[in-house]
Amino acid sequence: MAVSIQEGDIDDIAAATALVNEIDRTRVSTVAGARHRLLQAPPEARRNWWAARDGETLVGWGTAGIDHDTTARSGYLNVSVLESHRRRGIGAALLERALAHLGDSARIQASATEAGRGFAERYGFRHTHTRRMSGVDPRTVDTGELETAEARTASLLEVGPEQTFAVDAESVVDQPGDDPIDAVGYKQWLVDHWAFPDYDLELSRAAVVDRRAVAVTFVIVDRGSRRALNAYTGSLRAYRGRGFARLAKLDLLRLLAELGFELVLTENDETNAAMLAINNRLGYTPIESRYSYILDRRPE
Ligand SMILES: CC(C)(COP(=O)(O)OP(=O)(O)OC[C@H]1O[C@@H](n2cnc3c(N)ncnc32)[C@H](O)[C@@H]1OP(=O)(O)O)[C@@H](O)C(=O)NCCC(=O)NCCS
Repeated sequence: MAVSIQEGDIDDIAAATALVNEIDRTRVSTVAGARHRLLQAPPEARRNWWAARDGETLVGWGTAGIDHDTTARSGYLNVSVLESHRRRGIGAALLERALAHLGDSARIQASATEAGRGFAERYGFRHTHTRRMSGVDPRTVDTGELETAEARTASLLEVGPEQTFAVDAESVVDQPGDDPIDAVGYKQWLVDHWAFPDYDLELSRAAVVDRRAVAVTFVIVDRGSRRALNAYTGSLRAYRGRGFARLAKLDLLRLLAELGFELVLTENDETNAAMLAINNRLGYTPIESRYSYILDRRPE
């Protein structure tokens, strides 16, 4: 039976989440999170998505949008095809839809696993950054240092959205990447992050000094598979180099170990020396790499 490519609908998001999780085993994401990203983005993000179906079965998924968190406003896209259906032109057809949707974007970002690199390069995307996915069993981490630490740790729910935003928005600008994340407004941040269903804000931690959060760390948990993803960590510039980010992450690992989690994953740019040093010291070891790509083109 021929594979059909169509605009996806909201009901496809559940099958699409299963598909992308199957293709990329180190993802920790849920249907609620995927729905939120696609449906709660602001209009200027121009989110759209396409489904490739073999009969009733979803075999490919493509998404596209404009990065509303940056002044660069680059486009971005992602294409995934089930292994059983690769090398049959499905990825190319999904890519074509996504590129057409981003017709007026001169710069388009994509992320590839090892399996997607040849495809991205075939279409003229150039490799810009490599990210390292690493993991640790939190039950093996010595958290004794928390007893004598000079900062208090607290849940992000306890410190609240305003303090969390202050640390997140200041620190994320310094995260290595293709476009600086320099246009994060509080109102949209509340939607994108504070209300993001995949974040467990009770377990996500802050290091608190002078009665305010100075470092924050977010976590996504999958209790079924006992895996978690330490999604983002940042600290206020004035408080860097004093171990507060590491403290927040250490407290998170302690909580996850107590809850019986067996694997905590994290992803870092290979040039992010500070965060890689923290993670090495916490016991994280590399699992695999992810590749950032950019396509430069003349807008249509
Ligand atoms: C990348 C991916 C979507 C490709 O899907 P696909 O349906 O197999 O791709 P297509 O069959 O449409 O291939 C289109 C072209 O890319 C080439 N191509 C596909 N995969 C390739 C690979 N791994 N290495 C080299 N070339 C590749 C094909 O040969 C074809 O070229 P041709 O037109 O010259 O014959 C799929 O491998 C995947 O889901 N990977 C994991 C997710 C990912 O990394 N996505 C990258 C987003 S940019």
